[in-house]
Amino acid sequence: MESTAKHAMDIIKAENSKIDSVDFNNLDFGKVFTDHMFSCDFKDGKWQTPKVMPYGPLTIDPSARVFHYGQAVFEGMKAFKDQENQVWLFRPEDNLGRINISASRLAMPEFPKELFFEGLKALLKVDDEWIKNTEGSSMYIRPFVIATEPAISASPAAEYKFMIILSPAQSYYAGEVRVKIAEKYSRASDGGVGFAKAAGNYAAQFYPTALANQEGYQQIIWTDASTHEYLEEAGTMNVFFRINDTLVTAPTNDRILDGITRKSVIQLAKDNDITVEVKQIKVGELIEAAKNGSLKEIFGSGTAAVINPILGFKHKDFKHELPKLDETYASLFKDKLNAIQYNVAEDPHGWRYKV
Ligand SMILES: Cc1ncc(COP(=O)(O)O)c(C=O)c1O
Repeated sequence: MESTAKHAMDIIKAENSKIDSVDFNNLDFGKVFTDHMFSCDFKDGKWQTPKVMPYGPLTIDPSARVFHYGQAVFEGMKAFKDQENQVWLFRPEDNLGRINISASRLAMPEFPKELFFEGLKALLKVDDEWIKNTEGSSMYIRPFVIATEPAISASPAAEYKFMIILSPAQSYYAGEVRVKIAEKYSRASDGGVGFAKAAGNYAAQFYPTALANQEGYQQIIWTDASTHEYLEEAGTMNVFFRINDTLVTAPTNDRILDGITRKSVIQLAKDNDITVEVKQIKVGELIEAAKNGSLKEIFGSGTAAVINPILGFKHKDFKHELPKLDETYASLFKDKLNAIQYNVAEDPHGWRYKV
């Protein structure tokens, strides 16, 4: 056991490493986990001594609130290793801020900043060998909080578990993505939890997305729940439209996740003299732009894929394929973001965080 400078932390190392059994050239996204995990319990009104411990199953009482009322929130972030083997995070304070916003909305306790950074750094350090610096490799980081108190009364739990698990990732390719614009189902409603990374938001997307898959569309662009007229976000990404040379994206609201990649793209657009408009976009305007040829690109932004080009869309009976361009905003932003993340470009906005 070791202690960190500020907080006591138990570090229990795994006896054997699984690393030799992993084929790092053929990783299925999110299916392989490292040797260790971070865990910290909330009990008696406070966070207890955290642990870095061998990765493995949990023992949780079947009456825990997470199983019954869905008190569960999570984050998605990445660590990158540069050519000098230094590990970097990308805007991690924003992930911590967001998991605490999500937790508050679900009546769960916030997690302290120092504990988060000390725990995450300690975990990345014990599993450093798992973070590869080969092209496109990264470590996907999944912090999450679940309600563990054993009692099924429908009220917020008094006990929680904050955990971080790590999954090595290769450059993420979601395959060809065509999207269906939602006209019946919604992912989030006014005054609801759409802005939170609440587990239930994702469960609610699975069924309509499966129906879209059956029609040959990989994802859904969600529209506002009351009119289905305004474009909001795409699957698990924020969405951008390039109309002529202007980049357009919807403003965040309580139905949309405030994506860290989204706000980075908006900043990079400004840095590169690309006109960016954060405004509500009507489905009708998109269809009009598709018909008159001014719609050049659609892409999603999110931690896993960074930027994911969308090749086509469908709305009711209208189907459209995007033009194939030699130079796209999608690849410009992906390259610029990757260069900052892997420490090969300057970082004028201080987004990189040294581990
Ligand atoms: C619903 C939803 N929208 C948008 C995003 C993109 O957010 P970020 O760029 O912070 O990863 C995510 C997560 O990745 C998401 O789950």
